[in-house]
Amino acid sequence: MATPAQKSIEETGGVGSLKHVAIIMDGNGRWATYHNKPRSLGHKKGAEAVREAIEGAINCGVEYLTLYAFSSENWNRPADEVSDLMALLKLYLKREIKTVHKQGVRLRIIGSRERLSPDIIKMIEKAEEKTASNDRMTLVIALSYGSRDEILSATRRIATAVGAGEMSLNEITEAVFSKALWTDSIPDPDLIIRTSGEQRLSNFLLWQAAYAEFSFPQLLWPDFTKDDFKAAVEDFLGRNRRFGARP
Ligand code: IPE
Ligand code: IPE
Ligand code: MG
Repeated sequence: MATPAQKSIEETGGVGSLKHVAIIMDGNGRWATYHNKPRSLGHKKGAEAVREAIEGAINCGVEYLTLYAFSSENWNRPADEVSDLMALLKLYLKREIKTVHKQGVRLRIIGSRERLSPDIIKMIEKAEEKTASNDRMTLVIALSYGSRDEILSATRRIATAVGAGEMSLNEITEAVFSKALWTDSIPDPDLIIRTSGEQRLSNFLLWQAAYAEFSFPQLLWPDFTKDDFKAAVEDFLGRNRRFGARP
């Protein structure tokens, strides 16, 4: 039997159950190699594509957009690449916070702050504070983020509460565990997009992705546009999620 034609967001009358899209923004290095340019230019172009993703998400009407910007393992890259990425991040935060704020977007940064420089931490705190009451969309940036790190830190927190007699073992439910994660109060991602052709999570939202749908557009992150965002969302709308139950 032929597959029914994919419906557009307009035909479906909105994004329905799709609340949260998360993106693994991968392929900056390969983009640079392909264009015979330094990796740093790939990252710069990649930072520009972030705007496309935000606009794509706002246009589609999703409530949460999470962007994987820097993983806990990315600290193992050569020092000059790490410092290029951190410099770019500072520049990006300085420039984009105003735009994002004007668009009514709330900013939230998740990840370990331990290895971030004090000036970046300050910028993050200020941006979170400034945009705290915006409600058009929440933009979550995963920075120095590792899902195993996050799960361990939640486990330690819960174990401490149990050890102190503030919580009993059977009070540790999925809801309690979710609340102890850095993503507390952010719904699980419905759709995870990864560019570059790789099909892996790379330590991203391991707990939260339990029933996520995946999309692997065949393009490198700097080439990603709002139309690619929309195409991934429309493909998602045609899927049948079962959550383990009988349809
Ligand atoms: C993604 O692009 C950016 C970060 C991981 C910070 P990459 O730098 O991983 O690009 P590729 O995968 O080498 O092409
Ligand atoms: C994942 O990309 C992290 C980000 C996009 C920030 P990587 O390029 O670091 O992942 P691997 O090494 O290919 O798995
Ligand atoms: Mg990569």
